[in-house]
Amino acid sequence: STVNLQEVHDFLIKIAHQAGEMITSAKPTAAGSGTKKNSADLVTETDQAVEKMVSTSLKEKYPDFAFMGEETYKPGDEVTYAPTFIVDPIDGTTNFFHGNPYFCVSLGLAIARKPVVGVIYNPYTKTLYTGIDGQGSFLTDATHDRVRLPLRPPEPLRDLSHCLVAVEWGSDRDGNDYDVKTATFNKLCATKANGGAMVHGIRSLGSAELNLCGVAAGFLDVYWESGCWAWDVCAGMVIVREAGGIMAGCHQGDWDPKIDQRRYMAIRAGEGQKAIAEEFWGCVQGRVEVG
Ligand code: IPD
Repeated sequence: STVNLQEVHDFLIKIAHQAGEMITSAKPTAAGSGTKKNSADLVTETDQAVEKMVSTSLKEKYPDFAFMGEETYKPGDEVTYAPTFIVDPIDGTTNFFHGNPYFCVSLGLAIARKPVVGVIYNPYTKTLYTGIDGQGSFLTDATHDRVRLPLRPPEPLRDLSHCLVAVEWGSDRDGNDYDVKTATFNKLCATKANGGAMVHGIRSLGSAELNLCGVAAGFLDVYWESGCWAWDVCAGMVIVREAGGIMAGCHQGDWDPKIDQRRYMAIRAGEGQKAIAEEFWGCVQGRVEVG
């Protein structure tokens, strides 16, 4: 049976708006400790309530589809070849918790482990990013009425020294991976005289999905993170690729977060993507072992 991706996309937008209303009317309250690993790994009651609403609506409309969500995930759960909704009720929970408006609802559909529909909505700024496999990706907000991405005709990518780069620190704050990340960020930023790539700047905005949307739109050149979960990237991968961007750390068409070991690099549209990926890997200081 073939899935009507347009219908899924339209339904996901409806749910994203409903979720948005729940989020903007909620007061962030930390949920009982339970499953989270440390004090920087936040979860609120709103994350849980939104995921419940989203999963209930999706199961009612698409009873045969599988569901994976951040708040109900259990170690060992895997993305299978079945049509699977992959959902982060609030991506950027730390921002939400602090009243920082940079967060979103992230709703993706993967079929045969390939992300094919992505809907990402920031209910606070009312910014909506959408994409359907083979049909482009789009932005709707206060100043854009469903414009196609990227926002500008993409300039060629020169070297990293011309790039605005997004990275995230994540919530693991010690061990090898933390050392690799901090050394890599240092290398990216430092002057060439000091052996660095001297990028234009580094951004850690606090939402993996909105970083991917920034790459799709073209206002971020590269995004690199080790430590993402499927729900942090599924929807955004569609939006990046449909805007001419590439996921340099993934196996297109056979996406398996385990194979990718939760390490992702996204590069915006424009000539020179492969060379930028190469230059970036050259700046990674050691091996991140996450996943
Ligand atoms: C997290 C955010 C953060 C990124 C983490 C994600 P959450 O998602 O996207 O920016 O660094 O990898 O897990 O916990 O806010 O849904």
